[in-house]
Amino acid sequence: MRRSNVIVAEVHQLLREMIKPGVTTMELERVAEEETEKRGAVPAFKGYSGYPYCLCTSINEEVVHGMPSDKKVLKDGDILSVDFGVLLDGFYGDAAVTHPVGTISDEAAKLLKVTEESLDKAIEQIVVGNRLHDISHAVQSHVEAEGFSVVRDFVGHGIGRKLHEAPQVPNFGSPGMGPRLKAGMVLAIEPMINIGGPGVRVLEDGWTAITTDGSLSAHYEHSIAITDEGPYVLSRI
Ligand code: MF3
Ligand code: CO
Repeated sequence: MRRSNVIVAEVHQLLREMIKPGVTTMELERVAEEETEKRGAVPAFKGYSGYPYCLCTSINEEVVHGMPSDKKVLKDGDILSVDFGVLLDGFYGDAAVTHPVGTISDEAAKLLKVTEESLDKAIEQIVVGNRLHDISHAVQSHVEAEGFSVVRDFVGHGIGRKLHEAPQVPNFGSPGMGPRLKAGMVLAIEPMINIGGPGVRVLEDGWTAITTDGSLSAHYEHSIAITDEGPYVLSRI
């Protein structure tokens, strides 16, 4: 799983360098597809429940599952969430990050910072003996203290020989609840955070989820192994 997640991280790094005003999300898709193939891996999302692309590229009020398009041209001030996973030798890797495009507003910058921090706080809770919802609570309490809201309709997940395995990992919950964390489990933790209310709806395309109030949304994700020595962030290089 480390090897599949290193590929995920490497492709994310290449995409980060490409993201600037004028680039289309389809150009990012092409690079992700090529670089995955070069490394002998298979894109995890393409064909999953009929999803047609390697990447999810969600711009501004798009929360998750935005689709790459040569009509989607990034512009200064946008935020772009890129979600990407691969399958290598029978094991999945999965990670997401929200990028600023050019210069973004202070409010958007705060959203990115708080969302990334909420993932870091979740990761700190990934220790043997803690309970699953300790992770959820860490995300929710940080985000709500900063005045933002947690999306309820999508959650993180176990990951391994399948992209989505039990347990579901909500980004909201009460400390001390849920199953105990054990060494050997691998979780994909993925806070999706809105500036406005928590509501989302899916567009006519059947995939793109947007905030119901049109507010900006950010998404960060890592695949993390639980070890006796603490959390091992497999998708961080
Ligand atoms: N990171 C997302 C997830 O874990 C991406 C899934 S997109 C899909 O669920 F196309 F594969 F559904
Ligand atoms: Co995921």
